Amino acid sequence: MLLQLAAWPEVEEYLKTSTAIIVPIGSTEQHGPNGLIGTDAICPTAIAQQLSKRMNVLIGPTLAIGMAQHHLGFPGSISFRPSTLLAVIRDVVESLRVHGFTHVYFLNGHGGNVATVTAAFSEIWAGASFAGGTDRAPRLRLRNWYLGPRVKALSDELYGHAEGSHATPSEVSLSWYAFPEAVKSVSLHPELAPSGPIRDAADYRRQFPDGRIGSNPGLSSIEHGKRILEAAVEDTVEDFNGFTADAA
Ligand code: NI
Repeated sequence: MLLQLAAWPEVEEYLKTSTAIIVPIGSTEQHGPNGLIGTDAICPTAIAQQLSKRMNVLIGPTLAIGMAQHHLGFPGSISFRPSTLLAVIRDVVESLRVHGFTHVYFLNGHGGNVATVTAAFSEIWAGASFAGGTDRAPRLRLRNWYLGPRVKALSDELYGHAEGSHATPSEVSLSWYAFPEAVKSVSLHPELAPSGPIRDAADYRRQFPDGRIGSNPGLSSIEHGKRILEAAVEDTVEDFNGFTADAA
């Protein structure tokens, strides 16, 4: 069930069967010359929507803006500061806690979110610890969809080292499968983008002039995207079931 298409009595009924929710989280940032700016939000959203057809699980609204300051040298990118994203995560979790949700599973599409979301979890758990008492703190998990074992095996098979680390052919393929009307036919020079560390936005644009890092998204295709989505759904079902088995 998708939260945004549900009415509140349906959510109240759902809570009698499960107190877990999946919240897709991504980013709004450049993904090279042929990747969609919404890629990091589109991918976990597509996976979560498939999941909701497979099992009784509530899917929250996608948090489509993340921590992407290093992409601000490219037009169209929008970022929260780490402190802003931390506050957003805390408020989302605490809102859900009010209604009795015990397990919040963030299905993530953006590596730049990891440090901050993990820090937000620590902040939430610290709040419980400092408050004392014996209530179980919320169960929280951040899962990067692109690191699941089936997805990793498939991206290795399809792209090898050309997967790279930003604007990857895996994520571009998945986003194209979700939105075939947005496929962009652009030639990439060089085919394989340079690699290196990420710092601030100006440095990023100097080092990675077309926005990609280490990838060749020229290998992307809608057909690959379908296969990657199927692998990601299998990975996520398995991981989510493990997560909810840890009962509050
Ligand atoms: Ni991405």
